[in-house]
Order: sequence, then structure tokens, then C-alpha cells
Amino acid sequence: MLNTSFYYRTNSLIADTFPVAQIAHEVGTPLYLYSLKRALHNYYTIKEAFDGANIQAHIHYSIKANGNLALLRGLIAAGAGMDAVSGGEIFRAITAGASPDTIVYAGVGKTMAELRYAVEQRIGWINVENRDECDLINAIAGTVGVRQRIALRLNPHIVANTIPNIATGHGGAKFGLSMNIIEDILRDKHLFPHLDFAGIHIHIGSQLHDIAETAEAVKIARDLAFRHGIKTLDIGGGFPVAYQDGDELPHPSAFAQVIAPLVNGLDVMLEPGRGIIADAGILVTEVQYIKKQDWDTFVIVDAGMTELIRPMLYEAHHSIIPLEQRSGDSERVQVVGPVCESTDVFARQVPLVNPQRGDLLAVMTAGAYGMAMASNYNARVRPAEVMISASGLAWEVARRRETWEDLIRGEV
Ligand code: LLP
Repeated sequence: MLNTSFYYRTNSLIADTFPVAQIAHEVGTPLYLYSLKRALHNYYTIKEAFDGANIQAHIHYSIKANGNLALLRGLIAAGAGMDAVSGGEIFRAITAGASPDTIVYAGVGKTMAELRYAVEQRIGWINVENRDECDLINAIAGTVGVRQRIALRLNPHIVANTIPNIATGHGGAKFGLSMNIIEDILRDKHLFPHLDFAGIHIHIGSQLHDIAETAEAVKIARDLAFRHGIKTLDIGGGFPVAYQDGDELPHPSAFAQVIAPLVNGLDVMLEPGRGIIADAGILVTEVQYIKKQDWDTFVIVDAGMTELIRPMLYEAHHSIIPLEQRSGDSERVQVVGPVCESTDVFARQVPLVNPQRGDLLAVMTAGAYGMAMASNYNARVRPAEVMISASGLAWEVARRRETWEDLIRGEV
């Protein structure tokens, strides 16, 4: 799962221009290491794919994938807007320097306080998923004295081909509004004088394997928009990322090509998260013990489900490779974390050559939904995050490792 930013040079794993081991020795492990250069490359790949299909797409990076301020700043400087799902993420975006009007705020359960904050900050868009939410935002906007631009999130009842746990656009899902409810709201829009019903939003799932379903969903949303003279279509995120060699997945340009003929005359918004940061980040971990027992070899590392929960939560695959390659025959080992849970296993069939205590390993493609979903379970401190600059020539600790003091802060 190597790429232009993470590759081997004479058997050592390099991140842009730095041996990963050098950074790990300086900062310690476990450690998230990101390449801003790779993230920006991914951002421009998506942008150019849509430019190439003659769609002026506004890209709103989905903060939930990875909200590190250094990353947000880099993307904002490149021209990205932000997609937030909570008041906290709006706060992050604004702290990183995002202009509020470039922020989109989505979510099934926005609280009154979050909505008030969003409207007061004058954020660009609120993606609405509930008729009661229209009432709330209308009332808040009236009090604040603004007309709030909103997009109604349609559940297009499309079953996306992805891990079932991360599909969102099918009937029975909690996300979005069914067509008949949206039609009712739009029929009644005179009841909401402080709302500007300017967009339709869809997001059918993450790690989408199939462009046909996106096309189908876009068609349904587009027809709805046309029926009501709505000019903006927010088609969500979902660009897939290869997690193992041989994964064959549609390129952003395949999505752009299939969407282009459908959205003539409409403004398009995108909300990619994973497609920008997943393969621009790795989790570096140190082998603590080797335990050969029964018929297995367990390689016990200092990261676990507290740092990266995707394998345990979704049975997601992440390749695990050594920072220093050894020659010789590999054996198949289980790479497991230290957390007191049987499911704290990264992978069961990892080929490693003669693994030793003290070896450093990289869990690949971990930039998205890694640190963002990290926890303090077992009173473990969350890891440090290091960002390598856009030039690839400098790095800095973008977030320090937590301390035990951080763990008890706020308790009485
Ligand atoms: N927009 C909306 C409305 C979303 O719900 C999501 C992701 C995105 C954009 C960004 O999707 P992306 O481009 O990253 O696929 N924790 C799971 C993924 C959950 C995705 C939630 N929504 C995982 O680790 O696979």
C-alpha cells in the first residue's frame, strides 16, 4: 500500500523525504504520521477530475475523517471548504482559518445550541435532515436576523456497494429525508421565511465501490432539484481508497464522468474525507513482545483499537509493513494490540520476516477515521500526530501525545 509519499528506499520506509524510523525515534510510538503533500495531491486529483469533466465542483473536506488543524490549514490554503458534523467541527474549521461561508454543517441530530452557533457564525450551508430542524433554524435565523441557506438531505433509497456499516442511502437508514417528506417541506416553504431552500444533499455511503449507484442517486436528486428550481446539488463524499494491493476501485474521474451529464446547469458540491487523507497517513507502532503459543505467533504492538478501531469495528483491512525490511522467509503472524479486548487484533495473517521485540511497523492507509476515532479506553493516552509539510522537506509535531494528566483533566 505504498504510494508517492510512502515508499521504500534501500529497505527503509520513507515518508516523503524522511526515514519513518527517524521520526518515530524522535517522537516515540504509537504515532500518526501524515503527508500534507499526499493529501494535497489527493485534493487536486479530485478537483482536476471534476474540472476535466467540466463540472465546477466546490470541494468541502469532511473534517470527520481527520480534523487535525495542520491538515485543515493546508487544505484551506489550497482552496477547500469544510464539511462539519458538529459544533465542535465547526469550531475546528473556524480555528483553522476557514471562512464561515465555506463551511457546510450536516448531521442527523444537531442540537439547538449547535444550530444557534452555526447560524450566528454565518456558516454557508446547513444540510437539513428533519422537518423540525427547519422550524428550529427558521426561528434562530429570524432572531439573528439572517436568511440561512440550507440543503435538504434526500435519502434516495439506494443501497450502496460498500461495507454495510458505512452505507447511508438505503431505506431504513437514519440518514436523510424520504422524497415525500422533502416534497411536503418544499410545498410548505412559505412557512419558513428565514430559510433559503437552495440545495439538495445526498451521501449514499463511504468507500463506494460502484459509480452506477452514485449516478442513480444523483439522477433522483437532480430531478428533485429541477422540479423545484433548486440550483445546487451536494453529492456528499465516498470516494474509495485502496486498502490492499490489487484493490480495483473507480477513480474520481470515473465518478466525474458519470455525474457530468446529469448536473448540467447545477452547482455541485463534494464532501470527500477518506479520499483526501486515508492514504496520506500511517500509524507507526513498536513491537513490544512476540508470543508463540499453540499454533499462532502473536506480535504484540503498542497501538491497538484505541488508536485505530477500523479493523475491529468493520473488519476493515489495513496492510501492516515493517519500517526496516529484512531478507528471508516471512511467517504469517497475528498483529495484536495491548487493549483488554479479544477483538483488539489488527490482522491475523500478516507476513513478517523474523519479527523481533523493538521492531517498528507501519499500519498503512490510516490517515482517515484513525485518530478521529481514537479513544482513551483502558486509560490509554491518544498518540502524537506528525505532519510533513507540503514540500515534503520539513516535519513537525502537529499534536503532542496526551499525558496521564490529560486523562484526568476535568474530573473532580
Ligand atoms: N458527507 C457525509 C454526509 C458523510 O456522512 C460522510 C461520511 C462524508 C461526507 C465523508 O465520506 P468519505 O469521503 O470519507 O467516504 N468511520 C467509517 C466511515 C464513516 C463515514 C461517515 N460519513 C470508516 O472508518 O470507514
